[in-house]
Amino acid sequence: MAAQRYIFNTAEAGEHRRLLEQAQVWDRLTFRRLGEIGVGEGWRCLEVGAGSGTVVRWLADRVGPTGHVVATDLETTWLRAIEASNVEVREHEISTGSLGDSVYDLINLRLVLVHQPDEQAVLDKLVKALVPGGSLLVEEYDMRTLPACSPPDDTWRSVGGASVEFLEKSGLDAHLGIRLPGLLETAGLVDVDAEAVGFPRRIPEIPAWRTQIVEIREPLIATGLVTPEQIDEVIAGFDDESCRLVVHGPTMVSVRGRKPA
Ligand SMILES: C[S@@+](CC[C@H](N)C(=O)[O-])C[C@H]1O[C@@H](n2cnc3c(N)ncnc32)[C@H](O)[C@@H]1O
Repeated sequence: MAAQRYIFNTAEAGEHRRLLEQAQVWDRLTFRRLGEIGVGEGWRCLEVGAGSGTVVRWLADRVGPTGHVVATDLETTWLRAIEASNVEVREHEISTGSLGDSVYDLINLRLVLVHQPDEQAVLDKLVKALVPGGSLLVEEYDMRTLPACSPPDDTWRSVGGASVEFLEKSGLDAHLGIRLPGLLETAGLVDVDAEAVGFPRRIPEIPAWRTQIVEIREPLIATGLVTPEQIDEVIAGFDDESCRLVVHGPTMVSVRGRKPA
C-alpha cells in the first residue's frame, strides 16, 4: 500500500480528539445534507476516510438493519469501536485500493479528497462504485475565510495566513472546496448541488481550531508569517472565556451529485 500524504499523525492519540472536535463543528451540516439526499432504510453506504466515525454512526442508524454501511480509513482503531451489526470497517487506501463497480447507493467523504494526489481519479473511482442513480456527497474546505475576524485582529490574520501557507507548502489545495462542483461534473455526475457554510464563533467556543493550531505550531512558525509570541497570544485567547474575538474559520463547501440512472 503506497504511503499517502495525510499530514496528521493518524496513530497519535491526540488525533482522535482533533477528529472529534472537528466533527462537532461540521456534523450538523453533513447530517442535513445526507438527509436532503434522502438516505433511508436499506441503503448501502460507503464512508471514505471515516475518521472518528460520527457520520458512520448516523448513517448506520438511518439505514437500519436492512441497510449496510462500509467505513474505510487508513487508521481504523476508532471505527472498530462502533458496535452496530450493519457497519463493516475496512482498512483501505482510497487512492490505490479498489472499491468495485455499482455497489453503493451513497458514498460520502469529508476532508479526505484534499489529501489525495489525484482528486479526479479518486472521484472517477467513487462514481464507478455507485449504483446508477446513486449519490455522492463530498465536503472540503475553502480556506479563504480563515483570516476573517471581528474586531479586526492582525495576530489572528497572521495565524490564518500562515495556516493557508503551511497547507499549500504541504502540497494541499487550501481552496479545494470551490473546485468541487466542476470536479463532480467532470466525473459524470448530474444534479450537482453545492452549498458553502461557515460557523463564525468567539474563539473560546471553538476548541477544534485551538487543537489544530497547537498541532501545527512549528510548521506555522516555519512559514515566517507568524511568530511564536503571536501563536501564544492566540492560544491565550482560546483559553480566556471572556475573549470577544469572533473568527470565521474555514468555509465548508458541501457538494452532492447523482450518477445518471
Ligand atoms: C481530516 S480527517 C476527516 C475525518 C472524517 N471524514 C471527518 O470529517 O470527521 C481525514 C481522514 O481521512 C483519512 N485519510 C487520509 N488519507 C486517506 C487515504 N488515502 N485513504 C483513506 N483514508 C485516508 C485519515 O486517516 C483521516 O481519518
